[in-house]
Amino acid sequence: MARIARAGIRFVILSVAGIVLVAVFIVVKSYSRARPSQPIEYNHKVHIENAGLNCLDCHVHAGDNVAATFPSLEVCRNCHNAEPVSKSAEELKVLKYVAEQKEIPWNQVYQVPDHVYFSHRRHVTVGKLECSVCHGDMKQQTAPVSVPYLAVTMDNCIKCHRERKITNDCLACHR
Ligand code: HEC
Ligand code: HEC
Ligand code: HEC
Ligand code: HEC
Ligand code: HEC
Repeated sequence: MARIARAGIRFVILSVAGIVLVAVFIVVKSYSRARPSQPIEYNHKVHIENAGLNCLDCHVHAGDNVAATFPSLEVCRNCHNAEPVSKSAEELKVLKYVAEQKEIPWNQVYQVPDHVYFSHRRHVTVGKLECSVCHGDMKQQTAPVSVPYLAVTMDNCIKCHRERKITNDCLACHR
C-alpha cells in the first residue's frame, strides 16, 4: 500500500513539475515574441512632431521597392552627431553608434516568410494605401513596435484582397 501511495505521490509531483515547466516555456516564448527588443528605445512621435520628419525620410523605399527598409545610421547622423539634442540616455546610445560608425541592428517585427511575396510599392504607390491601414497610427508611437497592428497572416492578406476585389490566386503571393 505504502509503495503504491509513494509512487502515486511521485507521479503527482512529476506531473506538476512538468506542467509548471511547460507553462514557463509558453510564457517565455510568448513574452519574447511579443516584445522583440530593439537596441534603442526609438520614439516615432518625437521625430514626427518635433523634428518634422515624414515616414519616407527614414523608410526610404516604402514607396518604390519591395521592402520599406530601416533607416541607415547616415539618416540619424544628420541630427545626432556630436552634441546631444535631448536629455535622453537613449540618445547617448545613438551617439555611440555614430562615433563607432556601426549600423544600429534593428529587429524587424512585421515579416512575411520566404515563400511569400509582398511589395510595398505595389500597395503604397500603385494601390494608394496609407501606411496606417496595416501599421496603425505610427505618428503616436512613443516606443518601438512590439506587436504588429495588423498581424501578418494569410487570412488578413486574403480578407483585404477579397474586400477590394484583388486577386487571391495562390501564385500571386506564393512565388
Ligand atoms: C531631422 C533631425 C533628426 C533625425 C534625422 C533623427 N533625429 Fe532623433 N531626435 C531629433 C530631435 C530634435 C530630438 C529631440 C526631440 C525632443 O526631445 O523634443 C531627437 C531625439 C532622439 C532620441 C531621444 C528620444 C526621446 O525619447 O527623448 C533618440 C533615442 C533618437 N532621437 C534617435 C534617433 C535615431 C535612431 C535616428 C535615426 C533613425 C534619429 N533619431 C534621427 C532629431 C532627429
Ligand atoms: C498592405 C499592408 C501594408 C502597407 C499599406 C504598408 N506596409 Fe509596411 N509592411 C507590411 C508587411 C506585410 C511587412 C512585412 C514585409 C516583409 O517581410 O517583407 C511590412 C514591413 C514594413 C517595415 C519593416 C522593414 C521592411 O523593410 O519591410 C517597415 C519599416 C514598414 N513596413 C513601413 C511602412 C511604411 C512607412 C508604409 C507606408 C508608406 C507601409 N509600411 C505600408 C505591410 C504594409
Ligand atoms: C527618423 C526616422 C523615422 C521616421 C520619420 C519614421 N520611422 Fe518608422 N522606424 C524607424 C526606426 C528607427 C524603426 C525601428 C525601431 C522601432 O520599431 O521603433 C522604425 C520602425 C517602424 C515600423 C516597424 C517595422 C518592423 O517590422 O519592425 C513601422 C511599421 C514603421 N516604422 C512605420 C513608420 C511610419 C508609418 C512612419 C510615418 C508615420 C514612420 N515609420 C516614420 C525610424 C523612423
Ligand atoms: C494575398 C496573399 C496570399 C494568397 C492569395 C495566398 N496566400 Fe498562402 N500565405 C500568405 C501569407 C502571408 C502566409 C504566411 C503567413 C501565414 O502563415 O499565415 C501564407 C502561408 C501559406 C502556407 C503556409 C502555412 C503555414 O502554416 O506555414 C500555405 C501552405 C499557403 N499559404 C498556401 C496557400 C494556398 C494553397 C493558396 C491559394 C488557395 C494561398 N496560400 C493563397 C499569403 C497568401
Ligand atoms: C488593406 C488591404 C490589403 C492588405 C492587408 C494586403 N493587400 Fe495585397 N493588395 C492590396 C491592393 C489594393 C492591391 C492592388 C494594388 C494594385 O492596384 O495593383 C494588392 C495587390 C497585391 C499583390 C499583387 C496582385 C497581382 O495583381 O498580381 C500581391 C502579390 C499582394 N497584394 C500580396 C499581399 C500579401 C502577401 C499580403 C499580406 C502580407 C497583402 N497583399 C495584404 C491590398 C491589400
